[in-house]
Formats: sequence, C-alpha cells, structure tokens
Amino acid sequence: MEVVILADEAAIGVLVADAVAALVRRRPAAVLGVATGSTPLPVYRELVRRARDGLAPDWSGVTFFTLDEYVGLPAGSAASYRSTIARELTDPLGIDPAQVHGPDPDPDRLPDAGERYEREIHEAGGVDLQLLGIGADGHLAFNEPGSSLVSRTRIKTLTARTRADNARFFGSADGVPRHVLTQGLGTIGEAGHLVLVAVGEGKSAAVAAAVEGPVSAGCPASVMQLHGHATVLLDPAAAAGLERVAYYREVWEGKPDWQGI
Ligand code: GLP
Repeated sequence: MEVVILADEAAIGVLVADAVAALVRRRPAAVLGVATGSTPLPVYRELVRRARDGLAPDWSGVTFFTLDEYVGLPAGSAASYRSTIARELTDPLGIDPAQVHGPDPDPDRLPDAGERYEREIHEAGGVDLQLLGIGADGHLAFNEPGSSLVSRTRIKTLTARTRADNARFFGSADGVPRHVLTQGLGTIGEAGHLVLVAVGEGKSAAVAAAVEGPVSAGCPASVMQLHGHATVLLDPAAAAGLERVAYYREVWEGKPDWQGI
C-alpha cells in the first residue's frame, strides 16, 4: 500500500484527477468507481474545472459505478447517491446518465438488487479505478465494522455513528435512512486500483487502523492491505495517527514522476 501525505485537499484533488485523466486517456472505455460523501468533492471539482478549461480527457466511453445507495428515499431525492454523483460530477462533465450505474433501491426489486449490481459491474469488465473515502469508524462504502472481508453487494444497516455523521445531508440523524445497498468489501477489492482519500483529524484514528493496524473486519478499510495496488492520500491531519509518516514521505519524495500513483 502506498501512503501519500500532501499539504491539503486541493493538492490531493489535483493528484487524483491526474490519475483518473491518465487512466481515461490510456483506456477510453475505462470503468470508474465513484464515491460520495464530502471527501471526493475536491477531486470532482478539479475534473470539472479541467473539462471547463478544455483540458479534459474524452469521457464519452467511460462507465461509472457508484459504491452504495440509501434505501427508502423518495425517487429522485437530492440526498440519494445517484443524484449526488450526477450533481457533483457526471452532469457537469456532460456525461449521458446511461453511462452511470448505481445499486437499485426500488423497494419492489430489493431482494436481488445486490446480485443485479454485481452482474452489471461484471458485464462492464470490472472497475479499473475505485475512488474511496473512509468513515470515522473505518467503514468503506457502507460496509460497517464487522462486515465480511469477502462480502458482495447487499443490504446493510447503518450504525448510529454513521447516521449521525451523515445527518448533515438530511437535517438530522433521524432523517438518515437506516438501510443501504453497498458494494461488498470483496466487490471493492476486485477493482484494479483502489484510491482512498481522507482529510481532517476526525479520520486519523480510522486511517491509522486501516493502514497500520491488523487486517480485520473490525476496521473494514483495513481490507485494502490485501490489495496489490492501493493508494491512500492524506492531509497531515488525517495522517496524524500513523507511526511511519517519515517513511511514507521519504518514499513519495524519492518516487520518479513517471510512476504516478
Ligand atoms: C459515507 C459513504 C462513504 C464515505 C463516508 C465518509 O458513509 N457511504 O463512501 O466514504 O461516508 O464520508 P465523508 O467523505 O463525507 O467523510
């Protein structure tokens, strides 16, 4: 696992946008896994800025898969992850909604929603690059602590802590749905490149457990240690709980530019 500590979220946004753009140029039919929450927003803003400045790669062949979705929201809710990705990324990039996939929270179709989503990802050829945030409790997508490290897309129940953390999108914790559909940790682990971003002191304990702790369902993001190409991008506050900071900085400073992340 590569750990890169940069000055701030804007610098992280530029580096991740570089990696995404390089992938799309190299592979015009790339499959991009996108995350929601506040953390990926600087990446999306940078990609949209580049498109507005005429610096974007050609997005017309790219397929997008979101990580997760709330269950029980009214259709078209602005808080749904489908709406969020459209608003923050794919609409501003001018992407056809048919290129964007998400788990289907239709209540009448829930029993096989996970299986259907797995099939869609498989039929697209799998995810090339998966963007990830991390929950303050170490969750990845909506895989809460205790999730199987080999889990597939399925329904999960959110913890009280995650509902409190996401209350800002719903006005109150009580307004946050209890149930979600989420790619499993096994599903996420099949992506070609995992790119996890974390900023702020509130994530430092989860980051330390994920990066330097034991691989454990107790910290779902620790499953990244089992992946052959995983990059963790942090600001100094999110890196504050790590023991090997000096080493991570030395590795990054000595890395030739051509390698990217
Ligand atoms: C939600 C999402 C995760 C995200 C996490 C952290 O629970 N399902 O994918 O990583 O929140 O969100 P934020 O980036 O807003 O801290």
